[in-house]
Amino acid sequence: MIWRVIFAMLLVATVTLLGIGSRGRGEVRSVPRAAFTSNAEAAAHQDSSHEGNADRGQELFLLGNLACRACHSLKPGDDRESAPSLFGIGSRATREEIERSILEPSAEFAPGYKNVTIFLLGTEEALSGRLLIDSADYVIVQDYAGDEIRIERSKIKTIEVGISDMPNGLTQYLTPQQFADLVAFLMALTTSQEY
Ligand code: HEC
Repeated sequence: MIWRVIFAMLLVATVTLLGIGSRGRGEVRSVPRAAFTSNAEAAAHQDSSHEGNADRGQELFLLGNLACRACHSLKPGDDRESAPSLFGIGSRATREEIERSILEPSAEFAPGYKNVTIFLLGTEEALSGRLLIDSADYVIVQDYAGDEIRIERSKIKTIEVGISDMPNGLTQYLTPQQFADLVAFLMALTTSQEY
């Protein structure tokens, strides 16, 4: 019950911020960037009343100016420096996880793409890179030169998690329907679907 109220409040706030009510009167829709908080954005987009259309989502992904393809491949095994391949994403992630990946890229990281800075005990030294392996005894970090470095846990003071290389707000100008279409397209990218 309470979450419904919170959701409704966020939705009203978002609608007000977006000026959706004034669109019909032909006013220019100008949206200050700061008006978007990830929660309000999520509330506006994750409206379950919108059934996504995967074909329209494919058009958005392939032809739209969303920049997804600048970083992501859709081919199997084509994980790049810039981003993991989205091949099979519909088989390994739920709809909620996919939505979250887009709306809050830094909330969770695809395996091997977590940006970290590791501070070592007894020294001012720190090492930044991507966390490739995170085991009980040691971690393996790929530094920005591409070298893989193994560090024993016993030598680590702290591990700070940074932000994702995937920018926030990429889909903020999509309508809720377009966002649902984009997610439906990604959901349809199963391991038997090759591009
Ligand atoms: C500047 C590069 C960049 C752009 C542009 C970009 N992404 Fe990403 N994306 C990443 C990186 C890096 C990751 C892995 C780190 C993370 O999970 O945040 C990622 C992760 C993801 C994931 C989770 C993948 C997994 O295997 O868990 C999804 C889904 C995704 N992106 C969708 C999109 C969509 C849709 C767009 C376009 C609206 C987009 N990305 C644009 C870099 C990018």
